[in-house]
Amino acid sequence: MRLNTVIHGDCLSTLSELYSTNKEFADLIIFSPPYAQQRQDTYGGVPENDYPDWMLSVVRAGMMILKPTGSLVINIKEHVNDGVRSLYVLETTLLLAREFRYVDEYIWHKTNPFPTGSKKRLKDGYERCLHFTKSADYQFYPDSVSEKSTSKYAGDNERRKNKGAHNTTNGSNMHMSKRIIGELVRPSNVITMPVSCLNIDHPAVYPIALPEFFIRLMTKEGDVVVDPFLGSGTTALAAVKLGRQYLGIERDEAYIRLAESRIAALAEERK
Ligand SMILES: C[S@@+](CC[C@H](N)C(=O)[O-])C[C@H]1O[C@@H](n2cnc3c(N)ncnc32)[C@H](O)[C@@H]1O
Repeated sequence: MRLNTVIHGDCLSTLSELYSTNKEFADLIIFSPPYAQQRQDTYGGVPENDYPDWMLSVVRAGMMILKPTGSLVINIKEHVNDGVRSLYVLETTLLLAREFRYVDEYIWHKTNPFPTGSKKRLKDGYERCLHFTKSADYQFYPDSVSEKSTSKYAGDNERRKNKGAHNTTNGSNMHMSKRIIGELVRPSNVITMPVSCLNIDHPAVYPIALPEFFIRLMTKEGDVVVDPFLGSGTTALAAVKLGRQYLGIERDEAYIRLAESRIAALAEERK
């Protein structure tokens, strides 16, 4: 297998082939799958009723190539049918959680959500990122995504009186015995970033900051990041920028050409 390439094919069969020759080689599998049904014409859709079983097959195939220390992250949001929020993502989550370790749900809070076009709905301001692993021993580097503290005590060197016994390893970066808050703190599982406004030939590009966040949090330099629904190549770009290796799978040749041209442009930029 050659890393840092995009494979043309259906992800289910391609992942199985990759396993048969390479076994467990991926450190992070991250993707935004096609929605059920709705966008059938643009990039292929699976009927809502079949979606949980289909996604289970994809995740099973993905988990085969994942190292025991790896993570799998699915960025997904269910749509609305006739004014009613569909439940296929929840059904999918329940199904996956029966078989794999469901570590967490991260919420991507969008700062610039699109209008819904409905008078009876608010803007859809978030998407889910579902984190699954094979074992409890997954790589996790919260310091690599730490953010500036918004506490009014941040950076305050003046010692405050300890108000009682506290656990010092609560992840807040607060030294409870001294009551001093560091400049940088561990973020929450609500990730705030704008939607991608890139004007390129793909209908569902996610912002590069999204895969970047999970790549930093769950891998180290040189690790292998796999996106089985590569689309326009955003995950590959994030991996390259962060010094990781990537492998993409995409079944639409036009999107492969788009991804490859974006990856080549990045390489040119970095020369
Ligand atoms: C939501 S898009 C991913 C967009 C990507 N995250 C980006 O930023 O460009 C899903 C992609 O999966 C591809 N796709 C759908 N079904 C597939 C399958 N069974 N195997 C491989 N690719 C598939 C579609 O062509 C589409 O480009």
